[in-house]
Amino acid sequence: MNEKENNKMDKIVSLCKRRGFVFQGSEIYGGLRGTWDLGPLGVALNNNLKREWWKMFVDGREDMYGLDASILMNGKVWDASGHTGAGFCDPLVEDTETGERYRADHLLKDAGHEADGLSLEEIDAIIVDNKIVSPNGNPLSPARQFNLMFESRIGATAGDEGRVYLRPETAQGIFVNFKNVVDTMSPKMPFGIAQIGKAFRNEIAPREFLFRVREFEQMEIEYFIKEAAWKDEFEKLRGDIKKWHTHLGLSEDNIREYEVPDNDLAHYSKRTIDFEYNYPGKGFDELCGFAYRTDHDLKNHMEASGVSMEYIEPDGSRYVPHVLEPSFGIGRAITAVLCEAYTEDEMNGDVRTYLKLPKHLAPNRVAVSPLLKNKPELVEKAREVFTMLKTEFGNVAWDDNGNVGKRYRRQDEIGTPHCIVIDFDTLGQEAPEHTDTVTVRDRDTGEQERVAISDLIQKLK
Ligand code: GLY
Repeated sequence: MNEKENNKMDKIVSLCKRRGFVFQGSEIYGGLRGTWDLGPLGVALNNNLKREWWKMFVDGREDMYGLDASILMNGKVWDASGHTGAGFCDPLVEDTETGERYRADHLLKDAGHEADGLSLEEIDAIIVDNKIVSPNGNPLSPARQFNLMFESRIGATAGDEGRVYLRPETAQGIFVNFKNVVDTMSPKMPFGIAQIGKAFRNEIAPREFLFRVREFEQMEIEYFIKEAAWKDEFEKLRGDIKKWHTHLGLSEDNIREYEVPDNDLAHYSKRTIDFEYNYPGKGFDELCGFAYRTDHDLKNHMEASGVSMEYIEPDGSRYVPHVLEPSFGIGRAITAVLCEAYTEDEMNGDVRTYLKLPKHLAPNRVAVSPLLKNKPELVEKAREVFTMLKTEFGNVAWDDNGNVGKRYRRQDEIGTPHCIVIDFDTLGQEAPEHTDTVTVRDRDTGEQERVAISDLIQKLK
């Protein structure tokens, strides 16, 4: 990957920190690796993205039901789903001198070897044969499996009853509520249950900004189908996922679909497509996963819990549904959106940086300013316009810091699509025909037009 692309990612990470999108978790104590905190603009972008997703995949459809399950889940859930077993482990090796831990498959890949789907013995053999050492140049321990779940104990309960895990995927909250949703909502097949929420994975090597983290948010759908229909339904949802990526403003050139080979499929999957994004400095890597989970989960929960997970058709026929799962990591979506939006151009002879965010994602829909902040009559009028727009749109910023040029640059850098300035024309002090009009500046072109205050909401919409 070239230096320019690497630089672009560094610039995005620095913008995120500088402008209040993303901060390192627990920063004042030296940070906690694999955790990130969303600042005021980051949480706004995050909320906009989730709202758009919910609108498209839940409220915009008749066949989807929402859910919000607990993060802490009974240990038995994860035994049944297979997550406590070897299927949800990463291969770990240690630097024998420093004790630092690494993902063996990452070290193998960094050394130019194929690393997917290898057994521990195969990994050890490649390490020995190729004299692969740790990044510090020290010998490596033999590889072992490291389970990615965070385990805890609930209350003062001893023994297996007290064993709980922070969910490593929101999906299981959906599966364990399958019967509840069917009993209460009487959905017709096929139908989906959608959930947005936090998930946790004890990644051995969290890295690459929001890309591989220990605490993250997912937007997941389990779409329940008849087994015979899986191929057709797979294609339909595949199309819906593409539409979502277009809605995020991601260009087709930067997205590709990767058919995950059999030896690298998750333990529950019969077919998976990873939608990959072309991250600057990194290249194509996962953006979201789309898996055919068969009846693996419902069947296992039925066996382990003794509760029927069968769906009963109006004609009385019954079966355990199969499942398709579009699974979106919000951190990765936000990274892709920021990478796509980050733009440098030249304006008025200066280099300018701006985020070309879609309007529905931008943290601020619009910013409002008085031309001068020490002129009460301008400020009063600007407050009126601000209040009107804030009532309508909600995410409207008041910006009276520095001069107007600086405000524009600041708002450009955080992706605000329009800046509105109230000037002496607005007050009717310059050209009478401009009374009660304001300037509306477009982020992408820098062009301004005068718009009547009474037309503003319509214009911005
Ligand atoms: N539910 C799929 C995943 O979390 O990757």
